[in-house]
Amino acid sequence: MNIDTIKIRPANFDDSEFVAKSVMAALGNDEVYAVPLKKEIKATIEKITSICQREDVLYSWKNTIIAEIDGKPIASLTAYDGTNYKEIKERTFSLFDEPLDFDVDLMQDETREGEYYIDSATVLPEYRNQGIGKKLLIASIEKGKELGIPHVTLLVNPHNPKAKRLYRSLGFREAGEVYVFGEYYQRMKLDTTEPMRIDILTVLPEMLEGFLNCSILARAQKKGLVEIHVHNLRDWTLDKHKRVDDYPYGGCAGMVMQCEPIDRCIESLQKEREYDEVIFTTPDGEQFDQPMANSFSMKKNIIILCGHFKGVDYRIREHLITKEVSIGDYVLTGGELAAAVMTDAIVRIIPGVIGDEQSALSDSFQDNLLAPPVYTRPANYKGWKVPEVLLSGHEKNIRNWELEQAIERTKRLRPDLLKN
Ligand code: ADE
Repeated sequence: MNIDTIKIRPANFDDSEFVAKSVMAALGNDEVYAVPLKKEIKATIEKITSICQREDVLYSWKNTIIAEIDGKPIASLTAYDGTNYKEIKERTFSLFDEPLDFDVDLMQDETREGEYYIDSATVLPEYRNQGIGKKLLIASIEKGKELGIPHVTLLVNPHNPKAKRLYRSLGFREAGEVYVFGEYYQRMKLDTTEPMRIDILTVLPEMLEGFLNCSILARAQKKGLVEIHVHNLRDWTLDKHKRVDDYPYGGCAGMVMQCEPIDRCIESLQKEREYDEVIFTTPDGEQFDQPMANSFSMKKNIIILCGHFKGVDYRIREHLITKEVSIGDYVLTGGELAAAVMTDAIVRIIPGVIGDEQSALSDSFQDNLLAPPVYTRPANYKGWKVPEVLLSGHEKNIRNWELEQAIERTKRLRPDLLKN
């Protein structure tokens, strides 16, 4: 299965049974997927389906998004605004006929006003461990941001470190415990109001200034969607001549960036906040690509250290760097252009940075396909004509044509992308 062919969409009324099964499975009830179904489970599914069909309950189809492949739902996530939680919870639980197997009165509130709460997410058993849950979570975080709710929250079983790692990688942080459904759960919280922060460490800050103060990147910073700080490593050396490099041990050619200014700068930043990644730009790093840009754009705080001269004292790479990244198999004079390329690719996909969200999602590479050709007025320029279908106004035919073009161009120009 190719994860990129999965479509995420809002659920509709007819998905209510799938939502009901997902809510039950999220509570550890995978029997809902058994064939044939046991009679009593069938009855419970029917009951919960009737609850999910309502619009005024926690587990409503209205609060749910679905992941589907070839039109078949394979996963769902239910999340809602925590405002009026108590009232909606009471109504929801009162609709269950049978007594619940935990004491509702002892149960603390799962969420509250000011939170977009991810209640449950379930993937069909045969599609698990393939990144589908993560895709749904990302879509849900975006929804929380779009709604302007300051926090996205969820609960995780404290004995599930794998899930916790996934949530942390998306920017969630531990925020206390709550007693719900007869057990203690860890609360995790993601701040949607604080912009992403990128700190770039360089010996050539002037190389980055123009780029950061232009066009879309300048606008993104002005709109408060991202904070980008450039640090001159010469400000962090204790050397009176502001030197940041020295001769390499072993007598080979070139100069090496010293540990001290880099270590002091990173240490001072890490005292202020927690960083998700400390990235080093280097031609021998992991190749930067769209999935890596997508993943960095979900982080809260990142540091990018620009390599220079012959490189950096290897102890920095061993002790402080969490990811080494190359932008291609060629050697630049320094890591600043690499940092600029990465920053541009990361920032432009932060929601709200480019006006039309759809246009970031329909970029080349977002679904392992090159983008289809685009045209604008006039429809006929010097006899060079825009394809007829684009002028037809027939939405479905246009989308089909775009997909055909995208596949044809990818096969012809980048067949390697289709192999992944
Ligand atoms: N520094 C020099 N060349 C580089 C490259 N190709 N990628 C990242 N950093 C670099």
